[in-house]
Amino acid sequence: MRYFIGNWKMFGIPKSLSILNRINKYYSKDKNRNKYKVIITPPYTLIESYSRHFRNKRISIGSQNCYQKEQFSSNTAAISPYMLKSVGAKYTLVGHSDNRGEGDSDSMLKDKVRYAIKNNLKVVFCIGENKKEKKNKKTLIVLKRQLRNVLEKKFNKNNIIVAYEPIWSIGTGKIPTANELKKTTIHIKKVLNGIFKKTSPAVLYGGSVDGSNIGMFKEIREIDGFLIGGASKTSKKFIDIIKNYYR
Ligand code: 13P
Repeated sequence: MRYFIGNWKMFGIPKSLSILNRINKYYSKDKNRNKYKVIITPPYTLIESYSRHFRNKRISIGSQNCYQKEQFSSNTAAISPYMLKSVGAKYTLVGHSDNRGEGDSDSMLKDKVRYAIKNNLKVVFCIGENKKEKKNKKTLIVLKRQLRNVLEKKFNKNNIIVAYEPIWSIGTGKIPTANELKKTTIHIKKVLNGIFKKTSPAVLYGGSVDGSNIGMFKEIREIDGFLIGGASKTSKKFIDIIKNYYR
């Protein structure tokens, strides 16, 4: 199974639904549709209405984050996994570098993963090195630490998808070389095999993926799909990625 996940970040209002309707139309008719899943993570404000709209359709709706407590608490503006599930979310991102940058620690991320799974949300756990770590050749060490500090076998690999998003690649148009990416993906799967005992969750790539560079990524068979930011905000760009992947 391949994954094409669109992370809208701080984008979208109710009428932006038309973008997803066009993507869903393509997805529903695509002859390759059973080979992949499309998941979109709109902002919190749209999760309930979009989930209801797509309840019996192909696209799944997820959240971009969740709070590290399970149900209700007195944390202003926080949204728990229980609340997300109650409005129809099926997935949640955890550990996006935007949120790590705003203070999400490994122990907070572990609680997010734990409570998300407890509430039947599948977790897309994001990892990635920054520019300095890459320059100092620390990428593999950083990724191993990010995975080992949060993921545990008891979470069950079927509840987890890992998204490798090098921070220096997000929104910059810069992407790793095919060799680098193959090596990194194999390393991530090796670390995950260690955690989950000889079996690995799906591993996605994210960072400046678009219809013109997807051809390079598709050659790396170890990559199970993509987490797409900018190019998920228009139906044409998002559909082009899928079309060119299966070309
Ligand atoms: P871009 O595709 O805009 O580089 O964003 C990637 C990302 O951060 C998705 O979570």
